[in-house]
Amino acid sequence: MSTRTFYRGRRLRRTETLREMIREHSLLPQDLIMPYFVVDTPDSGLEQPIGSMPGQSQLSLAKLEETVARAVDSGLKSCLLFGIPAAKDTTGSEAWAENGIVQRAVARLKSRFPELVVITDVCLCEYTSHGHCGLLDPQGQVRNDETVAILAKTALSHARAGADIVAPSDMMDGRVLAIREALDSAGFAQIPVMSYASKFASTFYGPFREAAESAPSFGNRKSYQMDPANGREAMREAMADLQEGADMLIVKPAGHYLDILAEIRRRCDVPLTVYQVSGEYAMIKAAGERGWIDETGVVLETLTAFKRAGADLIISYFTQDLLCRGIIK
Ligand code: PBG
Repeated sequence: MSTRTFYRGRRLRRTETLREMIREHSLLPQDLIMPYFVVDTPDSGLEQPIGSMPGQSQLSLAKLEETVARAVDSGLKSCLLFGIPAAKDTTGSEAWAENGIVQRAVARLKSRFPELVVITDVCLCEYTSHGHCGLLDPQGQVRNDETVAILAKTALSHARAGADIVAPSDMMDGRVLAIREALDSAGFAQIPVMSYASKFASTFYGPFREAAESAPSFGNRKSYQMDPANGREAMREAMADLQEGADMLIVKPAGHYLDILAEIRRRCDVPLTVYQVSGEYAMIKAAGERGWIDETGVVLETLTAFKRAGADLIISYFTQDLLCRGIIK
C-alpha cells in the first residue's frame, strides 16, 4: 500500500467564514493614501478631468477641499498633494514659495481636517519650465547638489505650511539627508521623511505627466530615476535613504515591482509604501470601462497583492472611490 499522502488545502477553503478566518491580509482605510492634483487658478470651481485618468481631475483649492471632505466622511486618513503652479520658471521657484499652491492647500486642509495626515510630494518637475526634476547645467544635465539645496527649501516650506510628512520623489543623491537637516535645524524634527527610495524611470508615469503638466520638454529622466532592469541597485538606493534618515520608504511603480518591495521588506524594518501609479490606474480603468475586466475586483486584488508583498501603506488613485462607495471601511 502506498504511504504517500496529499495535502487537502481545500478543507480550509470550504466556507466563506473559514476563508475569512484564515485570510492573511486585509485592506483598511488607514492603509490607503489618496493623491490629489491642486491647481493655482482664479477659477475657484475648477474641476478639470484628466483625460488619461478617468475619474481623476485637476482641482482648484475650493474643489480640493470639497473632494477631500467627501473622502474624510468616508474614512480617508491620508492624502498626497501635487501642485500645478500658475507660472513655471527654470528654477521651479513656485515649489518653495511661501504662498505657493501646495503650501496654501496644506494650510487649508489642515485647518479644516486637523486629523487628516497630509503628505506633500517634494519635487521640481511640476514647477520647472523644462519639466525636469532639478536645475539644469548649460548642457541640459540635471545638477545634483544645487537641486538638493532647493528640494530642502521646498520640503521646509511644506513643513512650515503644516505638512505632516514630506515625500521627496526627485531621485537626486543626498536629498534625504539635506531635507532631514533642513527640517531639524528649523524646529521640524518631528516631521517624518517618506522617501521615494526606489523610483524607476517608468513608462507607467505617462498619464501623470498630463495630470501634473510635468512632462520633460526634452530628454527623459533616466539620469536620475532608476533603470527598471536593476533590482540590486534598488536595494542600494533603499539602504542609502535609510542611512540618510528616511523614516519610511516608497517603491514605485507598484504592480510590476513587487519583487523589489518584498526584498526591501526582508532587509529592513521601517514602514514601506507602494505607489500604484497613473499608468497602472489608467490600464485598469480602460479595461474596466470596456467591460473586459471587473474593475473593483481587479483593484482589490492588486491592493491586496501589495500588502501580501510587504506594503504597509498604499498610494492609489482608487482610494477615493473605494472609500466613498464603502468598498473599504
Ligand atoms: C514627480 C512625480 C512623478 C510621479 C510622482 N511624483 C512623475 C515623474 O517622476 O515623472 C508619478 C506618479 C504617477 O504616475 O502616478 N517627480
